[in-house]
Amino acid sequence: MKITVTKDYDDMSKAAAEIIISQLKKKPDSVLGLATGTSPLGLYKLLIEAYKKGEISFAQAQTVNLDEYVGLKPSHSQSYAYFMHTNLFDHVDILPQNVHIPQGFAENLSAECASYSKLLGRLKPDIQLLGIGSNGHIGFNEPNSAFSGTTHLVNLTESTVKDNSRLFDDISQVPRQAITMGIAEIMSAKSILLLANGTKKAQAILKTVKGEISESCPASILQRHPNCNLVIDEAAAALL
Ligand code: F6R
Repeated sequence: MKITVTKDYDDMSKAAAEIIISQLKKKPDSVLGLATGTSPLGLYKLLIEAYKKGEISFAQAQTVNLDEYVGLKPSHSQSYAYFMHTNLFDHVDILPQNVHIPQGFAENLSAECASYSKLLGRLKPDIQLLGIGSNGHIGFNEPNSAFSGTTHLVNLTESTVKDNSRLFDDISQVPRQAITMGIAEIMSAKSILLLANGTKKAQAILKTVKGEISESCPASILQRHPNCNLVIDEAAAALL
């Protein structure tokens, strides 16, 4: 595991942007595994800036997102599809057919999981971007998810529903289920880039880096990934 500690969120975003920008320059047809949430927002802004300056293009890139809420259409303002479009895809030259996000509104959710898993067999991310939950989740792989898991339907824990309710008008509106890439698929990415900032993440980062590798902290499996970069701010690194 390579750990880069930055002063704050802005520097974390800059360090992460450098990694993705150099990947796209080196390999314009990269497969980028993407995440939603607050952690990558600054990074996405910097990628848009780099695209507008002509430094990078997404025209040949493919993207695979980690997860999506069940029951929300892409037009729903809290869906992860909406998040990705408003915060990145609508501002760069990615081709719509190269964007892949699990369909949380699919009628047959198990068929959707199987088809997303098949897609991931074909499109292995060159870089998989991850945030981390305060309980150590990655994607929506909550504590005690199987390390061998592939794309599946999950029931969200109360702590995740509570963490995510800040973005909804009311906690009752937060979906209770999601589709997520499984841990085995995350681990099959060629490289991992995990971002974390703030004291709320410090305990999860401690367990990820120094804890026992255990399904009780899903991110701890990253200790076994041969090419894993953690880019975290001082507050998230405080317990290391
Ligand atoms: C998002 C995702 C989640 C988040 C995690 C951290 O697609 O899969 O695992 O990365 O919950 O969220 P933030 O960045 O909002 O703290």
